[in-house]
Amino acid sequence: MLNSSASTIEFNRAIVRTPCKRIVEGLTSATMEKPDYNKALEQHNEYIKALQYCGLEVIILPADERYPDSTFVEDTALLTPHCAIFTNPGAESREGEIAIIRETIADFYNTIEAIKPPGTIEAGDIMRVGNNFYIGLSERTNEEGANQMISILRHYGMDGIPINMNEMLHLKTGLSYIENNYLMITKEFLNEPKFKHFKQLEVSSEEAYAANSVWVNNRVLVPQGFPNTKALIESAGYETIAIDTSEFRKIDGGLSCLSLRF
Ligand code: GLY
Repeated sequence: MLNSSASTIEFNRAIVRTPCKRIVEGLTSATMEKPDYNKALEQHNEYIKALQYCGLEVIILPADERYPDSTFVEDTALLTPHCAIFTNPGAESREGEIAIIRETIADFYNTIEAIKPPGTIEAGDIMRVGNNFYIGLSERTNEEGANQMISILRHYGMDGIPINMNEMLHLKTGLSYIENNYLMITKEFLNEPKFKHFKQLEVSSEEAYAANSVWVNNRVLVPQGFPNTKALIESAGYETIAIDTSEFRKIDGGLSCLSLRF
């Protein structure tokens, strides 16, 4: 049974990883030009500054040339108030990213769980609302991975809710919970009964990329260049911080993918 209370949380830290030169080989569904490495580094620095402005201590991991997508640390683990859960990425080229973040997470968590094959899950598919975690069944997250995740969450007094999806890379490509019952939502999810109880902030198809915005301690990071979405978030009473993510977007990356916040 879902616990409908969704008390507002507070983050103290974030983990990020510097983009590597092979970011140009990052997985992508788009036919856009390749990311510019130097520009990606600059944008990553601005992202770190924004997290610091929101009061977070930012742990910056070094670039790792073995993994082109490794700057997208969010996918590697689910960090909850009660435990950390390592994922098992559905993309083969990303499997090794768990091993290279393990020690850093172990520095902060005594209780650590892990999703095991044949379960696959990437935490970009998981949206936290208080003690409830919505889990998108995407091409990267299978039912077995979602079921394992739900069992672990329940063991610690939390819960998980599977969500069917077809159009997006990850669940949070098209949805962001920005606290106080506000849900930023794109077309694919508008008719989903499991989201009816939220105050929905509908992000237009033209600005769909900006549905991946990030609440951090009562401010919201929003990708630069999406004025209607920025105004929508501000209408909910939040200060926004716009960040240029053009280079990450070229390989299907968004603002949330770039950090683990806890
Ligand atoms: N390029 C981000 C991802 O596909 O995981």
